[in-house]
Amino acid sequence: MANRSNDRNWDATQHYKNAAVAKDYDRVRFSSTAGRVFNNQEKRVIRECFQDIPRDTVILDIPCGTGRLAEALLGSGLRVYGADISAEMLDVANERLAGYGGRFTTEVMDAFKLTGSERQFEAALCARVLMHFPLETQIKFLRGVAAVTRKRIVINHSLSSPYQRFRRWVKVLLGHQKSAGYPITNSEIKRLLGESGLAEVKRRRINALISEAVYIVAEKIR
Ligand SMILES: C[S@@+](CC[C@H](N)C(=O)[O-])C[C@H]1O[C@@H](n2cnc3c(N)ncnc32)[C@H](O)[C@@H]1O
Repeated sequence: MANRSNDRNWDATQHYKNAAVAKDYDRVRFSSTAGRVFNNQEKRVIRECFQDIPRDTVILDIPCGTGRLAEALLGSGLRVYGADISAEMLDVANERLAGYGGRFTTEVMDAFKLTGSERQFEAALCARVLMHFPLETQIKFLRGVAAVTRKRIVINHSLSSPYQRFRRWVKVLLGHQKSAGYPITNSEIKRLLGESGLAEVKRRRINALISEAVYIVAEKIR
């Protein structure tokens, strides 16, 4: 995925507030053969992370982006409340998911401003965003999501293990695309979850040898 979050001037909260960026989001990342395979695997894993939740539950998808993963949840019978700081990304999502009618609704929302909100969802998905911020900011983001969620939060992240750090080093040598700016170690995952009032229940990986992606099912502990 094209990613400039290790450029300190790149700002994930602003970058996607652009109609051209939003329109191109899926094509740029997921239209190659490898991209299509990864996208399908990721959607399968996300569906599995919510498989024991009663159908018809409303899942908060924040950030929803273009509705890529919301589509997977809607397809499995769940309802989705798609929230994102970018109205442009939500426009693409609304167009894509219009066929789901009232099962999919959206709202422009800033995850950093959710603490103290009266709103409550049973479960939430928080995908492909935390790795764009330094750890302290990730904690603020996830605390916001936890403030409006009663029980389960599924996050994805980029795992920083000795093997994955070696892989990154090789990728840089080979001149590959830059990876996410703020991958996270296992002890940092514990801190991120703990300081957001969450505990890990289980985790999933996709192609651990060739991908940093880690999917964590967490539940509220307070
Ligand atoms: C890489 S996209 C991921 C979208 C989607 N989760 C996916 O996996 O396709 C990151 C999204 O985070 C959104 N975002 C960034 N900061 C945010 C914030 N403070 N509150 C809500 N959304 C935010 C951006 O607008 C963008 O749509």
